[in-house]
Formats: sequence, structure tokens, C-alpha cells
Amino acid sequence: MNQIEGICREVVEKSEWVAIATVGPDGAPHVVATWGDYIRQLGIDGPILRIPVGGMNRTEANLQLDSRVELLCGTRQVQGIRSSGKGCSIVGRAEMQRSGPEFDAAKAKFPWARAVLIVHIGNITPQL
Ligand SMILES: Cc1cc2nc3c(=O)[nH]c(=O)nc-3n(C[C@H](O)[C@H](O)[C@H](O)COP(=O)(O)O)c2cc1C
Repeated sequence: MNQIEGICREVVEKSEWVAIATVGPDGAPHVVATWGDYIRQLGIDGPILRIPVGGMNRTEANLQLDSRVELLCGTRQVQGIRSSGKGCSIVGRAEMQRSGPEFDAAKAKFPWARAVLIVHIGNITPQL
């Protein structure tokens, strides 16, 4: 499954923010975030997600050495198996784009963006 659908789509549609983890050159984890509505504004259909990049310099350096990325989001607004609250992990590979149609579309909505982070969805796993 490399498209956001079903219960995970509901989670992504309602998440306030999304964590983005990369791996540093020494193997250290590094976590940043984006707002859920930023991701939604750039579209959640299809096999990629787009994230507007203002900072994320360390994330960019990490991705140049290791493109693996994991996103984690969650919301109380979707019912889980045992209680209110559901999450979703998205594993894939990511790249920063500083030009081209994806960057132009992101820049049009987020004029402060210096790049757009393109996440190629590999696997999506619900949590809770
Ligand atoms: C809830 C939340 C949303 C954020 N959204 C963005 C975002 O959309 N784009 C961005 O570049 N940084 C965003 N940030 C800041 C990043 O998490 C990060 O601190 C910053 O970009 C520096 O990244 P770096 O440590 O990889 O250099 C957000 C932080 C939080 C806590």
C-alpha cells in the first residue's frame, strides 16, 4: 500500500501535526515536524506527500546520505481499537526539491518555502 487510504486517510485528514524522522551520519535519529494542514493543502492523493520546507537544514543533510524517512501522525478525532485516538506511520524515501513543478506548487501556497520535501510512500501502518 503506497497510497493513503482507509483509516490512515482519516488520520492524515485530521492530524494537527506530523513528525518526520531521518537518520544522521552517525546513526542518530533526528525528528522534525510539519503541520497536518500543510500536507493536506499540497494534496494527499497518490504515492507521494509534499511538505513545505522553511528550515529542515539538518534533515536535508541527513537525506543526502540516507533517504529513508518515517512520518508519524495521530489524532484523538479518529476512533482506535480500544479508545478514541488513532495513529499512522508512513515509511518511505524522501528528497528535497528546490525547483520544478512540485516546488512551484508549494511555493505558490507557502511563499516562505525554500524547498519542498517529497516523501515517496513505501508503507503505511496504522497504530492504536
Ligand atoms: C508542529 C510543527 C510544525 C512545523 N512545521 C514545519 C514546516 O512545515 N516546515 C519546516 O521547514 N519546519 C517546520 N517546523 C520546524 C521543524 O520541525 C524544524 O525544527 C526546523 O525546520 C529545523 O529543522 P532541522 O533540525 O532539520 O534543521 C515545524 C515544527 C513544529 C513543532
